[in-house]
Amino acid sequence: MLTAILALLTLTSAPFQSGTIVVNVDRPGPNIRPTFFGLMTEEINHAYDGGLYAELIRNRALKDDPAVPAHWSLVNDSGSGSITLADDAVPGTKLSKCLKLGIDKPGTRVGVANEGYWGIPVQPNEHLRASFYAKVSPGFSGPITLDIESPSGKVLASASVSSIGADWRKYSADLRTGDLQSSKDNRFVLSSNQPGTIWLTQVSLFPPSFKGRQNGNRIDLMKKLGAMHPSFLRLPGGNYLEGDTIADRFNWKATLGDISQRDGHKCPWGYRSTDGLGLLEYLEWCEDLHMQPVLAVYAGYSLRGEHVTGSELEPFVKDALDEIEYVTGGPNTTWGAVRAKDGHPKPFPLTYVEVGNEDYFDRSGSYDSRYAQFYDAIKARYPKLQLIATTPVKSRKPDVLDDHYYRSATAMERDSGHYDTYDRSGPKIFVGEWAVIDGRPTPNLRAALGDAAWLTGLERNSDVVVMESYAPLFVNVNPGAAQWPTNLIGYDDLNSFGSPTYWVQCLFAQNTGAAILSTKVDVKAAETKAAAFQGGIGLGTYRTHAEYKDLSVTNNGQTLYSKDFAAGSADWKMVRGTWSVGDGALRQDGNQTNARAVAGDPAWGNYTLEVKARKLSGAEGFMVLFHYTNDDHYWQWNVGGWNDSLTAFQHVDGQDAEEVGKSADVKVETGRWYDLKVEAKGDLIRGFIDGKLVSEAHEEAVPLAPVYAAASLTRSGDEVILKAVNVSDDAVRVNVSLEGVGAVEPVAQAWEITGNLEDHNSIDQPEKIVPRAFTIEGVSPSFEHSFPAHSITVMRVKIHR
Ligand code: AHR
Repeated sequence: MLTAILALLTLTSAPFQSGTIVVNVDRPGPNIRPTFFGLMTEEINHAYDGGLYAELIRNRALKDDPAVPAHWSLVNDSGSGSITLADDAVPGTKLSKCLKLGIDKPGTRVGVANEGYWGIPVQPNEHLRASFYAKVSPGFSGPITLDIESPSGKVLASASVSSIGADWRKYSADLRTGDLQSSKDNRFVLSSNQPGTIWLTQVSLFPPSFKGRQNGNRIDLMKKLGAMHPSFLRLPGGNYLEGDTIADRFNWKATLGDISQRDGHKCPWGYRSTDGLGLLEYLEWCEDLHMQPVLAVYAGYSLRGEHVTGSELEPFVKDALDEIEYVTGGPNTTWGAVRAKDGHPKPFPLTYVEVGNEDYFDRSGSYDSRYAQFYDAIKARYPKLQLIATTPVKSRKPDVLDDHYYRSATAMERDSGHYDTYDRSGPKIFVGEWAVIDGRPTPNLRAALGDAAWLTGLERNSDVVVMESYAPLFVNVNPGAAQWPTNLIGYDDLNSFGSPTYWVQCLFAQNTGAAILSTKVDVKAAETKAAAFQGGIGLGTYRTHAEYKDLSVTNNGQTLYSKDFAAGSADWKMVRGTWSVGDGALRQDGNQTNARAVAGDPAWGNYTLEVKARKLSGAEGFMVLFHYTNDDHYWQWNVGGWNDSLTAFQHVDGQDAEEVGKSADVKVETGRWYDLKVEAKGDLIRGFIDGKLVSEAHEEAVPLAPVYAAASLTRSGDEVILKAVNVSDDAVRVNVSLEGVGAVEPVAQAWEITGNLEDHNSIDQPEKIVPRAFTIEGVSPSFEHSFPAHSITVMRVKIHR
């Protein structure tokens, strides 16, 4: 019977095999900004601690957990002893916690072991520098032995420190590994074979770092970043700048000086940051990779909504001015002198300052005035600085706007022409965070195709898109280390790898021309694509507690399904959230985002879904799910979404929830029962609240373009660089026409990235998907080239005019 009411729309067109790419070489467009490719960074996924920042000891200052010495354990080889977390401050420092090691009977040895960030790595013939603060009980006479030990107890490197005094002092020692094999699951042990008590804090162990910097960065990761040819570093970007609360913001002044002077702070991604990688380290990172900082200043708003305005904001504005002076001021300025004292007399170059991060989340509407306060103060003192706003403002005209996109591959491909029609008299654009969310913990090839298609659109528009940076940059791939699903570069404590998207960025940045060439792609979409407006139903919430009852699904007056939850919810699948049944209603009591429960028949087509809904507490309103195919593909009506400010339909495709149709300014009251109705007829969807039409949209089934491209001309004018992305499942034979070119060299250098959509790189297979270099023969002003299915190609054609 159900099949009788199916609504199935089938879009068909002929399979594609061929097409054209026309590049107008005779009419070079605007220049591609030298600032175009860059990096965005923040402490997330153990990006610094347990990542780029080369420190190997985890919880070195014992502040990670107020109750226990986390990541430390007692080592007891046939003796007896104890370790406790103690409050005992090292005078003149921010070190307030320590490890107290009591050695009652030393046996062979008693000590403490640090497990590192998922292991302590060693490499052959390596020189490591250890340091620690210590004091001992009167009469303790023994040395402290420092060992890096394998899981089987084999000593891989060792040193000893004697004459430890009764007052706090810093000690250091060198450890050298021999001709051993690299390994990563080791531990670092400090021990003694004498009785007594030892207090220890800020235990540190550094391997060689990039460019030999003290307190520096991991060599392999810095090299990987260098290969991306980045021109800037947005520092610190993301939520890390804002913190959950004002107290937890990135307070740059607290990240300066000797590491013993840095308290560390709680980062918004669920762990503490040591702040070992502080403002000066960010700037030196820029210096080492020849990048400019894009300095993000805290703008008076934190993630949980705390914000300050007016006179209360002034200290933060002053802080930003001080920060700019720390970066750019001569040693004769107040903050330039601090930087010189910190070891870097030479000022750093600075062109861009970003005010805040993603301030569209500030629903109080205070950003306009906050931005104006920063803008006026910074421009008055530093008129040449370019100021970036994180969301459109009316109070001032920002020099640049920072746009962020996290989407599915198809959404990215579909929108790759996003800036083609952007108003050229508006602010310039910094796409400061963007990524296809597909592949965990790093992008797969499907994501890389979407990312590459998106990048061609940004490059084509680089007259307005002055900078771009993918986010997040880093992920420690160990279980429990990551908070974000899809990230550019993965690593454990020893090895690292670039994702397919990393290689796209390297390839694109290593092959950037000087001038944009207008490029027209004409390859018809030819996949037979069945867009079925059908699927099951569901209910959901977003950081909200709510209940639902009296649900029905009907078609032309005929009931397909009705549910009285008093009879239970056995035929429902609870996908996410805390669901229970009570008083005849299905209730969601968890605080999760996108909590959902689903039911029904995937073959249901045209239908009307009605349900009563009541909000109990929380941030938003209701989600009514329909045309649910699977957990990656469904539609939802988001009632009181976006922090209870708007109501709209959304198409969920993977991690991406694309808003479709207009949003309505409808909010949800707590405690009141609403009658919700979603009507789906063909591709038309309508949402009613208490009988009133609120939302209306069409389920779109626009076929995806198979090929995306961008082209540029080199500074010397004798080479055309063409970047082309074939996202389709078939090879496409393309006629490439270089308009206005007299003759060309018959052999072109090219690189290609291709594979299966799910392919990805990993610690075990770091180079499964990497660019392959090859040459194309028979090149002429108009030549044929076959772009393989699922491929990203860059070619350089030498031209003569
Ligand atoms: O890149 C991860 C996060 O996404 C950033 O911290 C934030 O700016 C964005 O919402």
